[in-house]
Amino acid sequence: MNADEDKRAAANAAVGEIADGMLVGLGTGSTAAFAIARLGERVRAGLRVRAVATSLRSLEQARAAGIDTLDFADVAATDLAIDGADEIDARLHAIKGAGGAMLREKIVAESAARMIVIADGSKRVAAIGAAKLPVEVLPFARSFVTRRVADLGAAVTVRGGAAAPFRTDQGNLVLDCRFAALGDPFALAEALAAIPGVLGHGLFLREIDSAIICEQGQVTRIDRPV
Ligand code: 5RP
Repeated sequence: MNADEDKRAAANAAVGEIADGMLVGLGTGSTAAFAIARLGERVRAGLRVRAVATSLRSLEQARAAGIDTLDFADVAATDLAIDGADEIDARLHAIKGAGGAMLREKIVAESAARMIVIADGSKRVAAIGAAKLPVEVLPFARSFVTRRVADLGAAVTVRGGAAAPFRTDQGNLVLDCRFAALGDPFALAEALAAIPGVLGHGLFLREIDSAIICEQGQVTRIDRPV
């Protein structure tokens, strides 16, 4: 099985947990796209759900697939969020944001009664920290935040480069931050969140309830103990 087949299998398993009447948070990225496609099939087969999307591209895909979408600005809580990750470990700590949608993804994850991460086996790690950690920044604060995050021990680059930077769906910048050692991820998450101008970051430490990971065709599941 190749990675795409593993992504699809993980996505299909998660979408199998969506029940009639649910309000579902749709993630962003290639694995989430398989989930949206599968949900579209289930909707066309008669499942009645509504959804909110974590990015404009997921919104477009969901609408094209016939999924009834709501503006998240009108939504206070969702039932289930399904999203990908760049790294996930057995403690259900994850790094997200290679697609640049981590701010909306975290808000939707927090709104959800349950969040499932879906991934192929390449995303499973012993401990998160090798992937670049994306930080969303108000453009006004770019240099100031870059210096503050560098002071925390990261090599920082502006995604896309200074001349033509990547912009999030909110029009902000992403700093990709490479830490030699992440240290205590909870302490780092707090330190990042405390920097004025930081709008969000890709450390997901408490939001994820389950991970469904497919490696070489074998689906495994990690659940947070209740
Ligand atoms: C986007 C994300 C994605 O979920 C993450 O990057 C995984 O993407 P993919 O499924 O394409 O590997 O966090 O902001």
